[in-house]
Amino acid sequence: MTKSLLIIANWKMYLSYQQTITLCTQQKEDLISCVATTPHKLIVCPILPAINELTTLISHSQINFGAQTCSPHKLGAYTGEIDAQSLSELGCTYCIIGHSERRHYHHETNDIVAQQAMRLIEQGITPIFCVGETLDEKKLNQTLQVVQHQVEPMFQAIKQAQKISSRLTIAYEPIWAIGSNQIPEIKDIETAVAAIKSLGQEILPEIDISCLYGGSVDENSIKTLKSLKYLDGFLIGRASLDFQRLQKIVSWFKQPGHGE
Ligand code: PGA
Repeated sequence: MTKSLLIIANWKMYLSYQQTITLCTQQKEDLISCVATTPHKLIVCPILPAINELTTLISHSQINFGAQTCSPHKLGAYTGEIDAQSLSELGCTYCIIGHSERRHYHHETNDIVAQQAMRLIEQGITPIFCVGETLDEKKLNQTLQVVQHQVEPMFQAIKQAQKISSRLTIAYEPIWAIGSNQIPEIKDIETAVAAIKSLGQEILPEIDISCLYGGSVDENSIKTLKSLKYLDGFLIGRASLDFQRLQKIVSWFKQPGHGE
């Protein structure tokens, strides 16, 4: 039996609203065929204004939609913010939070990201919580400490609020691997994922944590990455906007024996 993977397509702000709609209208069948004959699920995360239209345009049981961030606040006087309730009303079932670009450009801290996770869980949206170390932290052998420090406030917030989400998804994305065409050693990814899962087990024993890998996943790096054990999927940036490339990546997981 082939294991079902979660493939997150993070389209960042690469395309405008109109460009996103045009791409998906013209290449709708190519996008759908990336997962149609597989057991995998594709979560498309475009710029927010395009989501509503895309949910109508691409209606397929294996394709869901996600946002790229959300407000840590509940409804109120927060100019410019987008709340989790609206995301749910727009058709988002997933939301990326804590991406290193949000942490870097918008100063989102671990505590803010933990609050975003809470708002999403309240609305029944699955957070895709991104963690990962910088190159300097990697060189100093601090990866495990850094990723555990990033997820802990969220685990504690969920525990305290007794808001149990049966699905918690964490994406390990080393910052130095994003957009760089470099990937970590397989054993290093497995060690980071194991550290995240073991902290999760300790604080929230009743929750099953899915772990994804992100950072320079493409049709070449996937040949190495496919050997990862205990991984539940991938978060893909640039390569996910080219549906032929995306199809090639996913097709590695149609191979007999994968996930058995
Ligand atoms: P990349 O981006 O696949 O282009 O490296 C991944 C990400 O930032 O989510």
